Amino acid sequence: MPATKPPPESVLISESCLQHRIRELGAQISIDYENQELVLLGVLRGSVLFFADLARAISATHPSDPDCGVQVRFEFVQLMSYHESTKPSKVQLIRGGSNYLEHRHILIVEDIVDTGHTLKFLREHLETLNPKTVKVCTLLDKPAQRQVPVAIDYIGFEIPDAFVVGYGLDYAQQYRNLPYIALLEST
Ligand code: IMP
Repeated sequence: MPATKPPPESVLISESCLQHRIRELGAQISIDYENQELVLLGVLRGSVLFFADLARAISATHPSDPDCGVQVRFEFVQLMSYHESTKPSKVQLIRGGSNYLEHRHILIVEDIVDTGHTLKFLREHLETLNPKTVKVCTLLDKPAQRQVPVAIDYIGFEIPDAFVVGYGLDYAQQYRNLPYIALLEST
């Protein structure tokens, strides 16, 4: 069965707009890491579609021309946030986040930065692993909800204070495979 189509007005960022911006991000990252090895560190699960498109938008090193492009390696982490109403969010590492990161250039690939707690936790965790550099690329930035300051190096889109789904982002594990970003209508 095809994915349910929401009404057009609930589409916040169309598929073509997403893909255009991701090509721009990939081009910039290709310039910034030209001829270097880069670990793309995807944050599961929300970043998977963005991760896959961004990785392909970064100039690849070709086997017949190893001196050009960016040598990209894929790594993933999975984190869990606990939201308790009166306390700041607690974040826990579920898996990943230790292999092949020491003395490497790491680019964290996130779906969305909201309060900033997840990113703050991940950055602090990575610093204990002695990486060469750590930068952050997020598809979406929702600054209205920020509770802790976090540095972001590459931002796809800044979005208003609304709950969004699609293109990897879920609501109760639904809607991840929509090819665009949609506003979740309040029920
Ligand atoms: P933070 O720790 O508050 O910055 O939240 C990061 C995580 O919250 C993201 O990786 C998402 O999994 C989730 N999240 C925050 N806002 C949204 C949203 O609008 N839609 C879907 N997930 C969201």
